[in-house]
Parts: sequence; C-alpha cells; structure tokens
Amino acid sequence: MEGLTKRYSREVLNIKHLAFQRGNIYGIMGPSGAGKSTLLRILNLLEPPDSGVIYFDGRPLSDNGRERLIQQRRMTLVAQKPVLFQTSVFENAAFGLKARGYCKRDFRGKIELLLEQVGLRDLSRQHSATLSSGEAQRVALARAVAFEPDLLLLDEPTANLDPSNVEMIEQLILKLNRDRGITVVMVTHNIFQARRIAGQVVFLNEGRIVEMGETERVFTDPADPRTRAFVEGRMIY
Ligand SMILES: Nc1ncnc2c1ncn2[C@@H]1O[C@H](COP(=O)(O)OP(=O)(O)OP(=O)(O)O)[C@@H](O)[C@H]1O
Ligand SMILES: [Mg+2]
Repeated sequence: MEGLTKRYSREVLNIKHLAFQRGNIYGIMGPSGAGKSTLLRILNLLEPPDSGVIYFDGRPLSDNGRERLIQQRRMTLVAQKPVLFQTSVFENAAFGLKARGYCKRDFRGKIELLLEQVGLRDLSRQHSATLSSGEAQRVALARAVAFEPDLLLLDEPTANLDPSNVEMIEQLILKLNRDRGITVVMVTHNIFQARRIAGQVVFLNEGRIVEMGETERVFTDPADPRTRAFVEGRMIY
C-alpha cells in the first residue's frame, strides 16, 4: 500500500509505504489504539481509506465490482470480536464452502478435520450462542481457513485462549503457511507470539510505522527507541 491515510475524529492511520510478500508470516504489533485493526479492515476492503492505493498481486485494487469481489475472495479476515451465525459450530465452519456451492458430501470430512485442528471436534453440534469466547474465536478461524484464502488476516487470534489452545492455534497457522503457502498478516499484542511465529514484524504506533523488518533483528537490535521499549515490555510515550 502507498500513501494510506484514515481519519475518524482524528487521524488514525498514516502509512507511506507497506508491502507484504507472498508466503511470509507478518506480525503487526503496537499499543492499543495504534490502528492495527483499522489497518486489517482496510486491507480486507471492509472499509475504504481516505487516501492511498492498495495493490494486490502488484496491481491496484479494482474499482470494478466483479473484479474486486474476485480479489476480495482471495483473502479472509478473522476479526478481533468475531461474529458467528446463529447455528451449530459445524454449520459456521462450513459456511464458506456452502456459500460457494459445494455440497455437504464433499466438504464434511474437510470441516471435521479443521474442527479437530482447532480443538473443537467434540463441539461440532453445539450452538454458537453457547460457546465461550475462546471457542468462538477458534470457530471463526476454522470458518476463515475453510475458504482456503491466499491471504489470511488475523486480528488477535489467540487473545482469549489459554496456553495449550494458543499453542494449537499457532501450530495451525504455521502449518497453513508451510503446507499451502498462505500469506499471514497477524495483529498481536503479544510480543512473544510475534517472535514465535512471525518471520517479519511491523511496529505500529499512533497510526504510523515506526519500524519493520526481520523478526529477530527487530527484537534484538531495534533501530528506534520506541520499538526497543515496546519489545522490552516497557511503556512508550
Ligand atoms: N469506526 C470508528 N469510529 C471512530 N473511531 C474509530 C473507529 N474505529 C477505530 N477508531 C479509533 O481509531 C483508533 C485505532 O483503532 P484500532 O481499533 O485500529 O486500534 P488497535 O491498534 O486495533 O487497538 P487494540 O490493540 O486496542 O485493538 C482508536 O483510537 C479507535 O478509537
Ligand atoms: Mg484492535
């Protein structure tokens, strides 16, 4: 993206240039209110920026509705507060495949495997309204992954999970990236998580990129004092 700005009552994003390469895992870190979720919503075309251009596969995103839909279908966002349909876990996870006209016979096995991978095999028939927040978050991840997107946008995917579930979800993200080459852009508050799974990290503060680079380098030798403070778990002002 180039020259991207977004303002609500004040400016919340101002990004001169940001590029994600296919096949990598990116961690977007930054304090609360830095603009991380806004950036993901704009990337997923849920919200337009006030200015700037977003390129996908090297081409500007299309103004043409049909072409844009095709581009949009190659990416999926798992939101910070996911909204599930008022139906079972299985039906939620299968939503994308159903919407695209696949029949249940063909995708049942695939959805069952996915539910197992997110640790929800035994909850397949449970109604979404009765799930804990961590379970709901994992259903949303399964639903997103079932689409087989080229680009997976994750907003705090493990915020409500306990350590064993965090490990499971991190393993799934790594596997999707390794086996299918899915590009992942993951927002996380958790600097340890970014360090564990992201190859590259972006540090966002007050809507601007303070620093971006190879994860180990940013953690061990940050160029900016604000990044250093953040990765050391200190407050930044
Ligand atoms: N629809 C909106 N209307 C007005 N202000 C908004 C809107 N969405 C976001 N903001 C503001 O924009 C700023 C950035 O919000 P955003 O949700 O992107 O932050 P974030 O980095 O994801 O924070 P967190 O880590 O708490 O999730 C915040 O100050 C927020 O209050
Ligand atoms: Mg957020």
